[in-house]
Amino acid sequence: MNSEIIEEPIRFHLHGISGVVENEKYGEVGLRLMNEMWQAVKGAKIPTTGINHWVYLPDGKMFVGVELRTPQQPAIPDQLEPLDFELPRYLKHVHVGQYQALPQKWKDLKTQLAARGEVIGSPSLEVYGHHCEDPAKAETTIFIGLKAKPDQKTTTIDRTTFESIYSGQPPWEIGRPQKAFLDVAEQITGSLLDAGCGTGDNALFFASRGITVTGIDFLAEPIKLAKRKATERGVTATFLVKDALTLKAWSERFDSAIDSGLFHVFSDDDRRRYVCGLATVVKPGGRLFLLCFSDAEPGEQGPRRVSRKEIEDAFAEGWVVERIEATRFEVRADLKDFSFSEGGPKAWFVVVRRAG
Ligand SMILES: C[S@@+](CC[C@H](N)C(=O)[O-])C[C@H]1O[C@@H](n2cnc3c(N)ncnc32)[C@H](O)[C@@H]1O
Repeated sequence: MNSEIIEEPIRFHLHGISGVVENEKYGEVGLRLMNEMWQAVKGAKIPTTGINHWVYLPDGKMFVGVELRTPQQPAIPDQLEPLDFELPRYLKHVHVGQYQALPQKWKDLKTQLAARGEVIGSPSLEVYGHHCEDPAKAETTIFIGLKAKPDQKTTTIDRTTFESIYSGQPPWEIGRPQKAFLDVAEQITGSLLDAGCGTGDNALFFASRGITVTGIDFLAEPIKLAKRKATERGVTATFLVKDALTLKAWSERFDSAIDSGLFHVFSDDDRRRYVCGLATVVKPGGRLFLLCFSDAEPGEQGPRRVSRKEIEDAFAEGWVVERIEATRFEVRADLKDFSFSEGGPKAWFVVVRRAG
């Protein structure tokens, strides 16, 4: 997908008409506002660039407007409101093709932004190209306003972000267990917790080896998919919608736990809370096997990078650190718009044992 995050502010000075959108009927409302706007513009013979701008505002409002050819117009009808705004940082994407493809395009872009750890701000807009005889060649530029990149030390990746990623194709959905866990399969016996299990490929791998597995995820959608996969594969495992930050209050106990991609989503505070919860549910002598992004992975796309020292610190009390090894996180082979290291994001594979 041809999209770029731009850190240089861009300003828009428009005149047009705004309206309230109910039941997500943006297309319908947009077309009505566009007709009204052009009637007013043509009636008053106002020179414009002729380019339609559909602006998506907060609280279910939208605005359809044009740029005037000269900034100071003597007689602008009252019906045309001015709208001036700036996007300090934004994603820019040029869509070439049918307008009908735009809703799916927005969905894909939002998923992509969420997976990159970006938070959408306001407003966002579509700037339509000049009329084109061939609808397949019509050009629409999408601008999505972005908030300043969250500080991953203080901000945990939230539910909405994960929901948005799951509405597309999550980069980690490889349809098989992560290789790092296959290599330690022999060491895992008894009962196993998979914290942040997603759609369950790691959990189901261990369940197929006769382990009593419980997978938890705070989202209902991946848990539903995990249960479906278990049925399709004829494997028995328990999947629960549960927040891994509430482990401390849980009465269940496990011989081992795995974490594939959860630890690195937490802020410093939530990381402490999570590790404290793990210390409660993993039996004394039990092990946690953990796979997270490493600080050797360049760039900022994806989750927080974690250093060896951070891992040692996180498990300094109540755990014995047995292994911290450089490895790779496996991601989808068809990932576009992500520039992870060749061979997959650089990661740590960690084995820690609960003291006692
Ligand atoms: C990177 S994905 C990894 C999924 C799965 N472990 C895998 O390897 O395919 C992280 C998962 O953690 C879940 N998650 C994030 N925060 C959570 C929390 N506080 N409690 C439980 N699950 C959480 C997300 O919904 C997502 O499914």
